[in-house]
Amino acid sequence: MNNYWSTYWQQGKLHSFADAPGQNYDGDLAQHWRNFFAEYKNKTASIVDIGCGNGALFELALRHQQMDNVTFTGVDTATLSVPDALDKPNVRFLENCPAEHTGLESGSVDAVVSQFGIEYSDTEQSFIEVARILRPGGKIRVVVHDNNSMIIKRNARTLAAVEALLGPASAIDALRKLSNALDKYGKQSSSSEQARRHLNQLTEQMVKTHGQQAVLDTNFSILLKTVLSSSHAKSDKKAALRAFEKEMKGHQQRLMQLVNAAYSAEDKKQTQTKLEALHFENIRFTDVKENNQLIGCEIQATKQ
Ligand SMILES: C[S@@+](CC[C@H](N)C(=O)[O-])C[C@H]1O[C@@H](n2cnc3c(N)ncnc32)[C@H](O)[C@@H]1O
Repeated sequence: MNNYWSTYWQQGKLHSFADAPGQNYDGDLAQHWRNFFAEYKNKTASIVDIGCGNGALFELALRHQQMDNVTFTGVDTATLSVPDALDKPNVRFLENCPAEHTGLESGSVDAVVSQFGIEYSDTEQSFIEVARILRPGGKIRVVVHDNNSMIIKRNARTLAAVEALLGPASAIDALRKLSNALDKYGKQSSSSEQARRHLNQLTEQMVKTHGQQAVLDTNFSILLKTVLSSSHAKSDKKAALRAFEKEMKGHQQRLMQLVNAAYSAEDKKQTQTKLEALHFENIRFTDVKENNQLIGCEIQATKQ
């Protein structure tokens, strides 16, 4: 899975939902982070970002202001490709470095932040590590995926559709059979007609069960166009089917990881207990919304 993230960050994307390189978070969440970082503007401080990716949070902090007195340290298990704008003496990235064992000095950090990062780690261990590196009075401010957020709901539905496509006697198999029948017997043959009907039934069933958006999110419709197009060679169609199956397996792993990382009400309770045991106070869990839609949960706490 680490390979997935390393490959993702090598594309130059700045955050995990970016459509294109260089795009950063915008809107309510971005403003929320800017306000938080502004608290450190005139202080000497050390801030650590867990699961930092290519440095989206640090870019937000530093885009419009100099904060030379603050040391920014990003921690991530992936190999990164950080933008030149973050090539500054007070910004460093610890790549291939797990949140569970950062190697940072005990009691040396003023704030630990994370955006959709820490929940991917073994939180049993990483919160112990966060407690170790924070100084007394130091803060945790992390936004984690929430089971009830629109991000998780949509991706859970996509995961179900991906799993249907990878299951036995799936629409991919039906498409492969149709493609073979068209090659062998031609468009008008009863074999092709039967195969086409079967594919349509399976596709309709998939849309009915998982919803149109989820099926669209798998990109199956793009595969359909490629395989059923008369302008593509037989070998290209076979290659497209194989590549799609491979892509779906990667997608399944990534979506499973995302859905499993999301916090449930029970996870929040357990985190509260964990943080209390690690001597944190002022522990708060707050819904994070973008355009009035839930996108995550913010966990805040202060080390005693
Ligand atoms: C969804 S991305 C979030 C990246 C970034 N915070 C953002 O908002 O764009 C999750 C990141 O967590 C990293 N990650 C996963 N497990 C980790 C661990 N145990 N320790 C540190 N980073 C980890 C992944 O490599 C990935 O870069």
